[in-house]
Amino acid sequence: MRVVAIDGPAGAGKSTVSRLLARSLGLAYLDTGAMYRAVTAEAMHRGIALHDVEAVAAMSRSVSIEVGERGVFVDGRDVSEAIRTPEITVNVAPVASNSAVRADLRDRQRAWAVEHGGGVIEGRDIASVVFPDAELKIYLTATPLERAKRRAAQYGGNVEEIAAALAERDHRDMSRPDGKLQAADGGHNVETDGLSVDEIVHKIVGLLDHDESLDDPDHEKGS
Ligand code: DC
Repeated sequence: MRVVAIDGPAGAGKSTVSRLLARSLGLAYLDTGAMYRAVTAEAMHRGIALHDVEAVAAMSRSVSIEVGERGVFVDGRDVSEAIRTPEITVNVAPVASNSAVRADLRDRQRAWAVEHGGGVIEGRDIASVVFPDAELKIYLTATPLERAKRRAAQYGGNVEEIAAALAERDHRDMSRPDGKLQAADGGHNVETDGLSVDEIVHKIVGLLDHDESLDDPDHEKGS
């Protein structure tokens, strides 16, 4: 099973890079952030208090969550657009720090990989927790200013305000006791400032080839 794990802070370009990388490697792609967002949207839709750890986890375990090319569905309900609203972005934190929800989604992510014969999987804890034995572990970063500029170019808005919001999300993602954002052992830090998406993908494919050649006993002999 071939798993490429892509972690990193918000706005580092994980989704764009992961999608392209998956296509160029002929692998499936999974956006795990969409799963946390989907649980948040469904809890809000059902009027469940997001801080009610047990209730949110019980709901999470009871629904089907589909994240794929067609969109994002919870028990067949299309939440693709709802999960991208600022309302979800600001409310996802208590769900992401709910350990029972994390355990449920972690199991689903592993099952998804088995079903798809691996894949490019992006999130925050993919290399550190979900797939510590991934074939390649990438920690994608960019300076806060670069990330804010990219967001502003894509969605509009004030760069300083976006940078402040991203800094707050970084802090929350990094200080969560369970599944926090961190670079994993044996991973590669890929700094993306000033690089185009194609250049980033090229760099990652290069790392994959390099790691493979290290596994190849003939490589040592120089053949
Ligand atoms: O990548 P994103 O912004 O769509 O992620 C939404 C939220 O989910 C984000 O606040 C962090 C959280 N998340 C997580 O805790 N673990 C993951 N593997 C992926 C996302």
